Amino acid sequence: MPEIREIPSSETYAVRHPVLRPGRPVETCRFDGDDLSSTTHFGLYETGELAAVASLFQSKHPAFPDHRQFQLRGMAVLEDYQGQKFGQILIEAIEDKARRAAAEVVWFNAREVATGFYEKMGYKLTGKPFQIGEIGTHYVMFKRM
Ligand SMILES: CC(C)(COP(=O)(O)OP(=O)(O)OC[C@H]1O[C@@H](n2cnc3c(N)ncnc32)[C@H](O)[C@@H]1OP(=O)(O)O)[C@@H](O)C(=O)NCCC(=O)NCCS
Repeated sequence: MPEIREIPSSETYAVRHPVLRPGRPVETCRFDGDDLSSTTHFGLYETGELAAVASLFQSKHPAFPDHRQFQLRGMAVLEDYQGQKFGQILIEAIEDKARRAAAEVVWFNAREVATGFYEKMGYKLTGKPFQIGEIGTHYVMFKRM
């Protein structure tokens, strides 16, 4: 069974880099707010190896009226480990943490290619598609906790 641990931001880069920023400088894996005390990073370990990461930031989006909002960022499963439910297990851990932190809504900017995954996890699309730099088309998605 995979094991989930809270990890420092620096340990997420080994997965963020090849999956989310391939071919780009490793500094592009650092996100504003990574080291705030209100941010939590999760690592999923399979037989002792880091296979997937995701991070939860306390952050508000103007589309939602709620006071307690959390943003999912840096969701990434190493290619060799994709399709083994590790993404789903990480989302469940993130939601558990968010609920314990009294979150009313979890939202994020989803890559177009990943929206089907998040819909399976019960997230809904809102608003119009938009571009993020070189990464491409994104949609805001959310779930009420
Ligand atoms: C998208 C990602 C996080 C999904 O994680 P994963 O571990 O591969 O997915 P899981 O095995 O947990 O999939 C759970 C379900 O979602 C489905 N699914 C997975 N990826 C999907 C996708 N891109 N589109 C539609 N459905 C998808 C699976 O088929 C599975 O469905 P099932 O329950 O009916 O069998 C992962 O593949 C990834 O890191 N991709 C590249 C980076 C990326 O796009 N990150 C998201 C940035 S917003």
